[in-house]
Amino acid sequence: MSETLTVLGIESSCDETAVAVVRRSAAGVEVLSSVIHSQVVKHAEYGGVVPEIAARSHVETIDDLAQRALAEAGYPAIDVVAATAGPGLIGGVMVGLSFAKGFAFARGLPLMAVNHLEGHALSARLTEDVPFPFLLLLVSGGHCQLLSVRGVGDYERLGTTIDDAAGEAFDKIAKVLGLGYPGGPALEKAALSGNPDRFTLPRALLGRKDCDFSFSGLKTAAATLAYEHVKTEQDRADLCACVQAAIARQLVERSGRAMTLFKAHTCVAGNENVPAFVVAGGVAANATIRRELQALAGRNGFRFLAPPLKYCTDNAAMIALAGLEHYAKLCKMGLKERESLIAEGLAALARPRWPLDEVRALADPIHKKQGRKGAKS
Ligand code: KG4
Ligand code: ZN
Repeated sequence: MSETLTVLGIESSCDETAVAVVRRSAAGVEVLSSVIHSQVVKHAEYGGVVPEIAARSHVETIDDLAQRALAEAGYPAIDVVAATAGPGLIGGVMVGLSFAKGFAFARGLPLMAVNHLEGHALSARLTEDVPFPFLLLLVSGGHCQLLSVRGVGDYERLGTTIDDAAGEAFDKIAKVLGLGYPGGPALEKAALSGNPDRFTLPRALLGRKDCDFSFSGLKTAAATLAYEHVKTEQDRADLCACVQAAIARQLVERSGRAMTLFKAHTCVAGNENVPAFVVAGGVAANATIRRELQALAGRNGFRFLAPPLKYCTDNAAMIALAGLEHYAKLCKMGLKERESLIAEGLAALARPRWPLDEVRALADPIHKKQGRKGAKS
């Protein structure tokens, strides 16, 4: 790919407003700037993200943040704009997407409407040359999925959560334990001095041999243990260590099954045929989970890759890259004229729900119109 492309990326699907400038040239991918404004303080007193507060905060922040991102990048000429168009909290998504439309319209630039999950899926390619296909564990506050990433825009879902996402379990259990918000990092810190063998927690979906996840039983069991047994700081640390170990165990078990499936069905090119196992999303910031997944990858003959921590949690560099990769693919295939891309971008709708593997998601009755709601779908 010889053409140099510089993309302005915008992310506003949850409680982080983020803007980044990413360039891809023959030399590779370069993040020229990536600025993030976290709203954690605003939501902390409510113990979770309040959608209305989030949307208002995005409105207040996005202008300055875009200024900063462009200034830090040295005001480069922008070729394409990319913005998260879903899934996420609709008010926030609309703010970022509308800003992107204004920016693109004023400059006559194409706008790529990006699936937030695709941003996470491709985030490892910001810093590493990861050839397709690769196996992805996407594990964040709203999502817990195993995907075969066959190419840009080409995903096959191997497993997903049937209830909560892993990050959501971390957050909710941390809340019950009075650890504040966001719960994942706080629970990880508390677990450092805990005994991971003290409490027995249930193992989910024991009768099944597929790659689906479930964390709601664990959440209820942890809450019960918290009310009955957590009296001291040490009790709390012990329960945190047990919860973290239980979540890690489930992620390892399902990822192991997905590795077997991936190897059986996917022909891997490049890197002397060693497939890559990529872990992305906010929960990938957890050191214990990272370590155990890395060991699993080693045992199964996969190259382990996790984006640097700053690209694991929500950021706009991954959105810029996803938009860039889609734009480059469309140009390469000669499928679309620049004018039609501009028109499509300006007409893009914000989507609260937007599965990566739409074929699979729509075939599954629990994902049909009247079925599961929210980002998890
Ligand atoms: O990817 P992300 O920033 O936003 C979503 O798209 O959801 O992920 C946020 C999630 C939260 O649930 C947070 O508690 C969790 O990632 N998280 C962690 C850690 N850091 C963030 N969970 C466990 N351990 C961590 N160190
Ligand atoms: Zn995310």
